Amino acid sequence: MSNVPTILLCRDIPSTLLKNAEEKGLIQIIRRSEDGPAPKEWIRSNITNANAIIVTLTEPLSEEMIEAGKKLQVVSTMSVGTDHIDTNAIQKRSIKLGTTPDVLDDAVADLTLLLTLAAMRNLSYASRIVQQGQWSKHPWSPLAFCGPSLRGKTIGFVGFGNIAQTVASLMLMFQPGRILYTTSKPKPFDIQSPDFSRLRERASASSDIEIRNVPDLQQLAKESDVVITLTSLNPSTKHLIDEKFLSSMKRSAYLINTARGPIVDTIALAQALESGQIAGAGLDVLEGEPNISSEHPLLQESCRDRVLILPHIGSATNEARQAMADLCVKHVLDQFSVSL
Ligand code: DGY
Repeated sequence: MSNVPTILLCRDIPSTLLKNAEEKGLIQIIRRSEDGPAPKEWIRSNITNANAIIVTLTEPLSEEMIEAGKKLQVVSTMSVGTDHIDTNAIQKRSIKLGTTPDVLDDAVADLTLLLTLAAMRNLSYASRIVQQGQWSKHPWSPLAFCGPSLRGKTIGFVGFGNIAQTVASLMLMFQPGRILYTTSKPKPFDIQSPDFSRLRERASASSDIEIRNVPDLQQLAKESDVVITLTSLNPSTKHLIDEKFLSSMKRSAYLINTARGPIVDTIALAQALESGQIAGAGLDVLEGEPNISSEHPLLQESCRDRVLILPHIGSATNEARQAMADLCVKHVLDQFSVSL
């Protein structure tokens, strides 16, 4: 019987730390031969022997599953979000929970900026025209495909943690008029902080920009030209962006969600896009993902050209995914004082 910790690895992750620790015989891994999300039954039948489990957001861990892991000392997820895990059950058992904050901030911020610009500049519609061979029916014309510029606009952040602050700092280069935010944990955005020095130098208008906490969500909706949701999903943020919020938004405004799908009420969003209540949306996440069929309301003719939907790729840079994988393995190794 070996003394090294046994790790239940739910799916392959790009971690060199894990590879090295295994090669040196410092850990033992229970792994699957197939790729893709680990089925519940597979986790259930292996968790009893594991001292640690490594999951991603495709492997939900319920209380019942955590209870079955009698030897579990650490649950490590290759994500910053923990909405797929029953964190109360983990706390109850004093199991350590490892997540991967910070290392994905740049990747998600880049994609949020990209989605914002893409939504405002009608990329969904414009690229569909070309892909369907219809460019000749839409030749260059003075107002074709036009959308607003970010310059001078009010950007409203729902949630203002590290990722949102990174997005805000990137956006300074586009010289928005104002940045508003609402947050459950007030964290002052410090434009003078050394973290933002490079961007400050490059963004000539940044030192004059108004950055203000707006505690009232409806007011944020009313005043923003772009609303960006970057908050965690929990019972208090589910459908935070609902019919009431959307009907307070300007008709010319855009909604961007790169956090978690259920923060936005999808049906209300589809109605808001259909009725022209808002101008457009950019979504990297969607309620019910990844089971989104072509029948989905947002993919219908009435909406599809005003919404750009991506399959949850916010953190998908090679660098971020590698760093996330290594950090999530580090939590496990640290728990068992394994050093390489
Ligand atoms: C996270 O880390 O929670 C992201 O959504 C994964 O890309």
